[in-house]
Amino acid sequence: MMKATKGVPAIAAVLVAVLVVASTTAPRVRGEDQLVRQLSNGFTATHAAGATSAFEPLLYAPSGVFAFGFLRVGAASLDLAVFHLPSSFPVWRATPASPGDWSRPATLTFDDGSLVLTDPDAGVLWRTLDAIGDTVALLNTSNLIVRRYDTSVPTWQSFDHPSDTLVVDQNFTVSSPPLISGNRRFAFRLGKTFMALQMEFYGGRSTPTYWRHTALEAQPQNATEPPVYGRLDGRGFFGLYLAGGGGGEQKVDTLSFDTFVQNLTGVVFRRMTMDDDGNLRAYYWTDGGKDWISDYKAIADRCELPTSCGAYGLCVPGAAAQCQCLLDSDTAGTSPPCHAGEETADLCASGADGVEQVDFDVVRRTRVSVAYKEVLPSLETTNKTEAECEAACAGNCSCWGAVYNGESGYCYLIDFPVETMVYEADDRKVGYFKVRRLPSMKRSRMSPAVIAATAVLSLVLVGLTAAGVCSGYRLWERRRRKRAGMEQELVVGPGPYKDLKTMGSLTKP
Ligand SMILES: *[C@@H]1O[C@H](CO)[C@@H](O)[C@H](O)[C@H]1NC(C)=O
Ligand SMILES: *[C@@H]1O[C@H](CO)[C@@H](O)[C@H](O)[C@H]1NC(C)=O
Ligand SMILES: *[C@@H]1O[C@H](CO)[C@@H](O)[C@H](O)[C@H]1NC(C)=O
Ligand SMILES: *[C@@H]1O[C@H](CO)[C@@H](O)[C@H](O)[C@H]1NC(C)=O
Ligand SMILES: *[C@@H]1O[C@H](CO)[C@@H](O)[C@H](O)[C@H]1NC(C)=O
Ligand SMILES: *[C@@H]1O[C@H](CO)[C@@H](O)[C@H](O)[C@H]1NC(C)=O
Repeated sequence: MMKATKGVPAIAAVLVAVLVVASTTAPRVRGEDQLVRQLSNGFTATHAAGATSAFEPLLYAPSGVFAFGFLRVGAASLDLAVFHLPSSFPVWRATPASPGDWSRPATLTFDDGSLVLTDPDAGVLWRTLDAIGDTVALLNTSNLIVRRYDTSVPTWQSFDHPSDTLVVDQNFTVSSPPLISGNRRFAFRLGKTFMALQMEFYGGRSTPTYWRHTALEAQPQNATEPPVYGRLDGRGFFGLYLAGGGGGEQKVDTLSFDTFVQNLTGVVFRRMTMDDDGNLRAYYWTDGGKDWISDYKAIADRCELPTSCGAYGLCVPGAAAQCQCLLDSDTAGTSPPCHAGEETADLCASGADGVEQVDFDVVRRTRVSVAYKEVLPSLETTNKTEAECEAACAGNCSCWGAVYNGESGYCYLIDFPVETMVYEADDRKVGYFKVRRLPSMKRSRMSPAVIAATAVLSLVLVGLTAAGVCSGYRLWERRRRKRAGMEQELVVGPGPYKDLKTMGSLTKP
């Protein structure tokens, strides 16, 4: 009896020791040879909730340059990503409709032939649809593929679902989802014969174009012609091709990068990314490099970016482009942000007599133009007067502004929230802009009775608040100290205007 009771703790201790050793050695990988190169059906991995490292790799490419795993996005969101390890850049992200939470133990499984990301509370966040496979692998190209044992053609590939980046040999087609910038404000889309950069408003319901490139040798009027598709080429260009019969392809246009003619050696990887400032840029990485180097951008001049100075901003071109605000009548101009918040709806509201406009103020400016007027809708005839141009916008609740050229009589209507306009030293270029009136600014329109009642109520509230403030102050102070500590952790990643310095030094050709 005595022996047995003494033995139990001893056995337990040995068991615990064995378990500790097993759990610390088993999942670790030692050396290149042991990196996970393939996931098979039945695979499950659980994210270490709140992990300090921003990326948790689960699967490696044979070259060891790319890994697929859990990625922390921003302060606390969780996503799946293919990560370029030398630069810590995610070349692909799953981008679930509602992101995961880094502080919760999300699970990635590969079961029944598809990859599934599950949140412990919210359920399935993301999964590979319409694809059944036996294994998951990451290729040297950074393509994440699901495939069957007996075929080489993948049943699902990340190349068909780009996020904000294209890489070499990835086909970008009319049916591919658009590239969406990380801040979700800009998109790069391919049409049948052209490619375009577009702003995303009202959750994607309005997508005005601010840059367009039509394939040089494609025939836009030839409806029987197959659609064009684009592909980044390792030699330093973005090619547009027509899929010909019999698997062949015909190149119909080329966007050449700065490095195309240089025959650069040591370039090991290229990408093309829809950046957060609305520009589409190509970058390359060299052997032993420290940073991405950009060798192409769709928009050369900072003032031609659609939101370079924010909403209701005015960009003054020059060697060092400057930002002012449209809302200041004097040109001394306060600096941006000129307008708080993003518009989430147009100025239309349903009233008693059908569609009405919500309240707005009007701002008029001279010497103002818009960078991308070629792609804006304009009134059909050129011979408009300034008053006619204004009236066309004033009475239409989907119109936010009109830009008029007194020389040509052209009138451009802005049927999306006003972003950055461009300064032009020409008094005949005038602009008319609507500014949504905030509810708090409606006070002057209240009836005298309402104003009197509000005044009395306010007095009562002031009295009550004063009484409450004294007792509430200590509690508030205590919470404030706690919060100050927390806010320091909410450090956001690199800002959207990371290459403003280089862009500012450029002038228009
Ligand atoms: C992937 O890259 C590694 C290292 O560069 C190389 O050894 C391997 O052959 C490559 N695999 C394929 C399929 O090209
Ligand atoms: C891209 O398209 C070309 C031509 O259609 C094709 O040969 C190639 O396999 C495609 N690449 C990928 C990664 O799907
Ligand atoms: C239209 O496209 C087809 C197929 O590419 C070509 O054979 C034909 O010549 C084109 N027609 C015109 C008018 O460009
Ligand atoms: C490019 O560089 C490679 C290696 O340095 C060389 O062999 C090749 O001839 C060069 N090509 C051209 C067109 O200059
Ligand atoms: C525009 O105005 C000019 C001069 O006022 C006139 O000669 C021309 O016919 C007008 N054009 C149209 C399309 O109304
Ligand atoms: C209002 O503007 C939109 C966009 O510019 C246009 O499609 C629509 O026809 C206009 N409505 C009226 C009543 O003019």
